[in-house]
Amino acid sequence: MKILIVGSGGREHAIAWKVSQSDRVDKIYCAPGNAGIGQIAECVDIGAMEFDKLAEFAKNNAIDLTIIGMDDPLVGGIVDVFEAQGLKVFGPRKNAAILEGSKAFSKDLMKKYNIPTAAYETFNSPEEAKAYLETSKYPIVLKADGLALGKGVLICNTKEEAMDGVNELMVSKKFGDSGNTIVVEEFMTGREVSVLSFVDGNTIKIMTSAQDHKRAGDGDTGLNTGGMGTFSPSPFYTEEVDEFCKKHIYQATVDAMKAEGREFKGIIFFGLMLTSEGPKVLEYNARFGDPEAQVVLPRMKNDIVDVFEACVNGTLDKIDLEFEDNAAVCVVLASDGYPVKYEKGFEIKGLENFEGKDSYFVFHAGSKLVDGKIVTNGGRVLGVTAKGENLVEARANAYKATELIEFDNKYMRHDIGKAIDEVNE
Ligand code: AMP
Ligand code: GLY
Repeated sequence: MKILIVGSGGREHAIAWKVSQSDRVDKIYCAPGNAGIGQIAECVDIGAMEFDKLAEFAKNNAIDLTIIGMDDPLVGGIVDVFEAQGLKVFGPRKNAAILEGSKAFSKDLMKKYNIPTAAYETFNSPEEAKAYLETSKYPIVLKADGLALGKGVLICNTKEEAMDGVNELMVSKKFGDSGNTIVVEEFMTGREVSVLSFVDGNTIKIMTSAQDHKRAGDGDTGLNTGGMGTFSPSPFYTEEVDEFCKKHIYQATVDAMKAEGREFKGIIFFGLMLTSEGPKVLEYNARFGDPEAQVVLPRMKNDIVDVFEACVNGTLDKIDLEFEDNAAVCVVLASDGYPVKYEKGFEIKGLENFEGKDSYFVFHAGSKLVDGKIVTNGGRVLGVTAKGENLVEARANAYKATELIEFDNKYMRHDIGKAIDEVNE
């Protein structure tokens, strides 16, 4: 088979690596890809939002299946463009990707179908939002309706912060049109867990759990980032939590989308908060998490191409999804200064130490090939993943593997997966 993957980050590298393990695959292309992906796939110089060019490439190169890794093309309707040309593609159509693309949509869906989530109100005008915030309880959460690179969520501790937040999102439009509508949401507390799933329109199969570390600094300090590291499974995702979510959240979401005439095929990523009142949905995403994919996929036993096909064909009920009974930790190596200001273009040394290894991996997020050398090319540069019998061992292995890599402004958190200690104590 020939596979095309659309995207260029660590998530797409993890997908490409997992696809490369399939005996059924002869050739992998990735558009646009990066230097690491280029070691296992042929990178194609077409942007992820160039739908017509991508479809033409898929047709001209007899691609059997295209996998969309990123949210922007999904929300923009890339799947509809491929399907209209008879091309096989994995991911939700535009009318279903709205589950991630509009927070107002997803909140209304949860309310209508009694799926547990934080209480909220939606506003289309800054005046109405401000009037509401005059008498609200604090802290409170403001969310831009649309995609905002994961940065459109503001936690406001005081009324002043909330008023400034409304100005930022709706008046000065820091995140463009994604702030035309905002959701104002009750502030919740609790552990966060990421649960990814495969969905074929009717059937949903849950993957192993994971947890992300979003803040830039140790001890969850500093600014929000795309994610500084992950671990899987989450020790807080107990059988009781799993049972509750199976009963009230997972299938309920798939059925709700179907009932709305928005059949969902692809990945649903459930961002959950384990509150004192039980698990609640923080957000939905319509694609793998980044860097959740980097810890979940290395633990998956199935041939992923079989699973992708089953989702597209509506036969996911025939798949027995299996994960290894172990753990994985991913530590992101970033450029010092990320997510604000950082230099790039430094040579990355030590990548050869990871070649042919199956218990530790390096997934490239921001790298590029210049004059035969691989150099840093982004805020998040690499994700170093290692497996272990349990989380403590996986964490030790991952940090040991980070020492194999050198570049000039290498920065990482030193406490990825540290929450595990609380469980063990
Ligand atoms: P989201 O993009 O909706 O997942 O929000 C990003 C992050 O903001 C989440 O991972 C949480 O840490 C935090 N967050 C979002 N909504 C809430 C909420 N209602 N209460 C507390 N924290 C929240
Ligand atoms: N790691 C969170 C996300 O992919 O949105």
